[in-house]
Amino acid sequence: MPPDHQLQRWWTDGVIQPGMRIAVPGCGTGHDVAWLARAGAEVTGIDYAPAALERARETLRQADAQASLVAADVTAWIPGEPFDAVYEQTCWCALHPDRWSAYTQSLHGWLRPGGLLLLMLMQAPRPGAAEGRLEGPPYHMDVHGARALLPLESWDWPAPPYPRVEHPRGWAELAIVLRRR
Ligand SMILES: C[S@@+](CC[C@H](N)C(=O)[O-])C[C@H]1O[C@@H](n2cnc3c(N)ncnc32)[C@H](O)[C@@H]1O
Repeated sequence: MPPDHQLQRWWTDGVIQPGMRIAVPGCGTGHDVAWLARAGAEVTGIDYAPAALERARETLRQADAQASLVAADVTAWIPGEPFDAVYEQTCWCALHPDRWSAYTQSLHGWLRPGGLLLLMLMQAPRPGAAEGRLEGPPYHMDVHGARALLPLESWDWPAPPYPRVEHPRGWAELAIVLRRR
């Protein structure tokens, strides 16, 4: 399976480059991990589901790619060494909103100062939101909420508008590159 095309664009544009240490939280099937590893990044995929890690292992084997796979909860895991970048696509929106604060603190802790958060902000609003219901996954990730959880004291935000990438399952994602302060 080809990688998410925004990831490929960030690579082509030089936002991420060979040799960078990149984390892929909620790596699932591992296709993005394998693609980044084949492209020359030093990649770590993190997932807490044994079945996902098994699939990721198989994806890496088939792609003849080398990467680290870690079995851990992304809201609690602490890496031994900080990363240059985190590719966040469909992990955050898989977490219940009660865990978002812990997750965004993790993301900040994983990155070195100046490191990049490559954020695909899931746009999946549901009708129940009008009555305050929390519906997901994927949970809708409003940009106002993301600004509150990734505050300006800790992150540099680019100015909107952000590229809107259509998701194969009918949702969309906003592609945003934040820099950790
Ligand atoms: C929507 S899937 C990601 C799919 C992935 N982008 C792919 O290409 O396969 C979300 C993934 O996040 C993982 N996940 C959800 N909550 C997690 C947590 N708290 N810690 C670690 N992994 C988690 C799930 O096991 C799942 O593999």
